[in-house]
Order: sequence, then C-alpha cells, then structure tokens
Amino acid sequence: MNRKVTVVGGAGNVGATVARSIANRELADVVIIDIADSKAAGVALDILQACPVEGSDTRLVGGSDYALSAGSDVVVITSGVPRKPGMSRDDLLQVNYKIMQDVTANVMKHSPDAILIVVANPLDAMAQAVFRLSGLPRERVLGMAGVLDSARMRTFIAAELKVSVENVHAFVLGGHGDTMVPLPRYSTVSGIPITELLSAERIAAICERTANGGAEITKLVGTSAWYAPGQSSAQMVEAILKDKQQILPCSVYLQGEYGVSDQFLGVPIKLGAKGMAQVIEVTLLDEERTALMKSAAAVKELTTIIGV
Ligand code: NAI
Ligand code: 2OP
Repeated sequence: MNRKVTVVGGAGNVGATVARSIANRELADVVIIDIADSKAAGVALDILQACPVEGSDTRLVGGSDYALSAGSDVVVITSGVPRKPGMSRDDLLQVNYKIMQDVTANVMKHSPDAILIVVANPLDAMAQAVFRLSGLPRERVLGMAGVLDSARMRTFIAAELKVSVENVHAFVLGGHGDTMVPLPRYSTVSGIPITELLSAERIAAICERTANGGAEITKLVGTSAWYAPGQSSAQMVEAILKDKQQILPCSVYLQGEYGVSDQFLGVPIKLGAKGMAQVIEVTLLDEERTALMKSAAAVKELTTIIGV
C-alpha cells in the first residue's frame, strides 16, 4: 500500500477493530501503536495473518515506538480508558485528557502532516484537547461519534419499519453524550422523512434508544462497544483516503456555524483528502436549536474543566 494509517490504542477493542476494518478494505498499511507493546505487535500479527484469507495485501506492524508510525497519512486515536457500567463518558475526562497530552505530542513529532481522528471519550472534549495540543488547522482534527450514533439510529429505524438498513439515513447532531440531538425530520427512508412513516411515540422511543445506545451495550457487555465504533471510524478513514467528499456527521471545531463558536460539536461535514472540506448547515426548528445549544453547553462544561 502507498498510504499509511496509524491507530494509537490499537491493541484495545476499538482500535483493533479499526485496524482490522482498514485491512479488510485494503485501504492502507496499518501501524498499531499502544503502550501495551507486545500486545500491539501481537494484534498486528494476528490481523496480518487474516489478510490472506481476506485477499488483502495490507501490511500491519505494531509496538509502542512511534517511529513505526512516522509519516502516517491518518492517525486514529482510540487510546483511552473505556467506561464501565454505571459510568458516564464524562467520568473519563481527566484520565483520558492526560493520555491525549502524551499521544498528541508523539503523533505530531512523527506524523506532522496527518489528519487526526479522535475516538477517545468524552469525545467532543477529547477532540478539542487534541486540536488545541496539536496546533493543527481545524480541517485536520475530527472526532468520531456521529457516524456511530447515526448508525445506531439507522439500525433502530430499519428494525422498526422492517426495511433494509441501506434505505435508511439518520441524522444526529450535537455532542456524543446524553444530550445528543437525533433529528427525525432529517432522517429518511428512501428519501421519505420518518415523521411520515412512524408515530411520534415510536420516533421518541427510537431517539431515546439512540441517545442511550452506548450505555445499553456497556450494561450488556461490561465495557463499552467496539464493533460499531471501529467500523464507524474506518468509514471516516476511507472517506479521507479515497477523497470521497462524503457527507458524514463528525465532531469538528465550529466557528459560528449553527450559532456555535470556538468549540467542538457534532455536525454534518463533507469529508475528503484534506479532512473537513465544509460544514453542512441545515435549518433547525426552535426546539431543535434549543436542544443543540444544550448539547453545546454540556461539551463546554467539560472543555472548561480541562482548560482546552
Ligand atoms: P480499551 O481499553 O480496549 O483500549 C484502549 C487502549 O489504549 C489499550 O490497549 C491501552 O493500552 C491503550 N492506551 C492507554 N493509554 C495509552 C497511551 N498513553 N498511549 C498509547 N496507548 C494507550 O478501550 P476501548 O474499548 O478500545 O475504548 C477506547 C476509547 O474509545 C475509550 O475512551 C472509549 O470510551 C472510547 N470510545 C469512543 C466511542 C465514540 O463513539 N467516540 C465509541 C466507543 C469507545
Ligand atoms: C459508545 O457510544 C461508549 O461512546 C461509547 O458506545
């Protein structure tokens, strides 16, 4: 491969899933960096040995030395403590901020031209921390959450209507937390808004399940989800490496869009080779705007605590 993607934290659940998905799609060579040095090497070797079966020529290596990652095109940051049942994403704030400090310094030293995708929680605050610590332009620091949250909403809509998930588009704005804002008016089945297809009660239930989607899995599994988060991160990598100019919901640094300034929040963007090409703005009803502002305030509370 002539492209290189590093997954920091790649010996863990989400990171290994991102690495595997990139290898399966044969998007790039993959470097797994993790403080768990030998586990990183082992996970890389295991995925590498799956490549002949998948028909993929992706090369993978792993370890704790960032020199392996030098010159990466994209760096996905999944290093961070996941939540346990009963914990909120916000409980991870301080510990994961320390990890972002260590990781960002190393990433910038070895891959100064990379586009960074942050996955660690609390997502919007960690993305903002990496943005500030890296000094990169806003186009090159993106948080992964909206792809996952809208995939969850798509799953629930498709199940409710008994239609293919391929027919369903879902739209989730805001921070990756309890205050996220699923938008039924912009969520469609083959172009038909779900408000035309489902009762207000069923839509409310789908929105609530979407907002609690992470907690639902954490309660069942005992730690947080990794398959859907890993696939969602890989979709963002693919949009960048293939310069797809794909519209995806991502957490980005807003500068006045949606009435929000100087902070990260989940919004639809156009994603391609240079990272964020454009923030896509849609009109919101008063109650939708109020919910988005509440979500922005929740993110700001966290970024203020860590001073980013
Ligand atoms: P995990 O515990 O399985 O993996 C984390 C990995 O990070 C471990 O292998 C650990 O050794 C590594 N690590 C810790 N500190 C490091 C450092 N300083 N440098 C390099 N590696 C380091 O956790 P999991 O389940 O993979 O979750 C990772 C993070 O992603 C968590 O913060 C979790 O909350 C978050 N997450 C975010 C989602 C989103 O939608 N944005 C969805 C799912 C998880
Ligand atoms: C999730 O939504 C915990 O952020 C993680 O699954």
